[in-house]
Amino acid sequence: MTDAQRTAAIDILKINDRGSYTVPTSGLYPFQWNWDSCLTALGQRHFDAPRALTEIETLFAHQWPCGMVPHIVFHQLDDGYFPGPDVWDCRRPVPTSGITQPPVAGFALRRLLDGAPDLRDRARPLVAQITAWHRWFHATRDPGDTGLVAIIHPWESGRDNSVDWDIPFQRVPTDGIAPYTRRDTQHANPAHRPTKDQYDRYIWLVERFRKLNWQTDLLHDASPFQVVDPGFNAILIRSCLDLADVAAAMGEDDLAAQNRTMAEAGLAALPALWSEAHGQYLCLDRGTGQLIDSPSSGGLLTVFAPIPADHAATIAATIDAQPTRYRVASHAPGTPGFDAKRYWRGPVWLVVNYMIADGLARAGQKEAADQVTASSLELIHQSGFAEYYDPLDGEGLGGGQFTWTAAMVLEFLAGER
Ligand code: GLC
Repeated sequence: MTDAQRTAAIDILKINDRGSYTVPTSGLYPFQWNWDSCLTALGQRHFDAPRALTEIETLFAHQWPCGMVPHIVFHQLDDGYFPGPDVWDCRRPVPTSGITQPPVAGFALRRLLDGAPDLRDRARPLVAQITAWHRWFHATRDPGDTGLVAIIHPWESGRDNSVDWDIPFQRVPTDGIAPYTRRDTQHANPAHRPTKDQYDRYIWLVERFRKLNWQTDLLHDASPFQVVDPGFNAILIRSCLDLADVAAAMGEDDLAAQNRTMAEAGLAALPALWSEAHGQYLCLDRGTGQLIDSPSSGGLLTVFAPIPADHAATIAATIDAQPTRYRVASHAPGTPGFDAKRYWRGPVWLVVNYMIADGLARAGQKEAADQVTASSLELIHQSGFAEYYDPLDGEGLGGGQFTWTAAMVLEFLAGER
């Protein structure tokens, strides 16, 4: 079975390969997505490491001068997706979106180079580029110097319609937006997708930022939505630490030191987001200064960073206690807002599982990590390479032949060997 799964996963990565970047799946997502690409490279490295590096290089070829790396690069026009380049209107040589996504590139690059040290020289420019992105986060998304960075649009989290955003999202208006036609609901079951009300607010934010000409240093303060997502910050911290090691091995001591300083600031600030009652971290709403009482997978994913051992152990127990057949639900079953089939409000995503399992294993929680990995492989076995899965019955949902799902399977299988 393992060999067949491996072959099937490689086939999907090849089917979705557009030469220098890979689409998440054709139809629903026909462009290059930021964190999809970085995680996809981890799958590609198992059969073509130079191609894996190209995936990350292509993404960074579209980094903005300010340091931001956009969440979508619209390499080729395709009107099957909304909002397309005309709505974003970012005026880049190759059109991109104007917001970002979880900065997993530093982690991915380190893992790639660990297995393919011969690519180190080629990767040297990326170390400076990724560091510039990390610096951009701290400069523009943490104006108060708290050590943690905020997202200003739910899509930046990668967990688009999580329950976590419901309360801060109430501050985002829906009036005055231009009429639009959604495309996602033509590719996937509308009952599993974000609601119209959520979509109106997503678009309102895009229009607000566009009116400010995408000056990224103005957008944080101009956004009615400013949320500190612990999972997002954990990814940034982990990427800073991994990139620091890569930089140090290349003799780039200054870049290494910059990344370490940013990671330390984040690690010092994270414990303030811990919830003893939920046994996990929670998001912080910068608009109110309050933690958001919503136990979602972002707060479990925090274990991807080197958090205190007792927090890691508690997160392992919290996951173990989830009353679902499959791990890890994107929102705690049995709590308000849980919906087993609606996108990020309950379903399991293999990329999140992968990072949680990695973090748990590093924290010495091997049994819990193995359980998450086993659950992930069982889902593939039962339902194929879907975009995401119902945690209760394991049904595969959303887009099919999904790139990062296939990439994660290659990682899980390699880890088992
Ligand atoms: C959805 C997901 C996001 C992902 C994208 C492409 O928008 O929420 O995390 O990057 O699809 O797969």
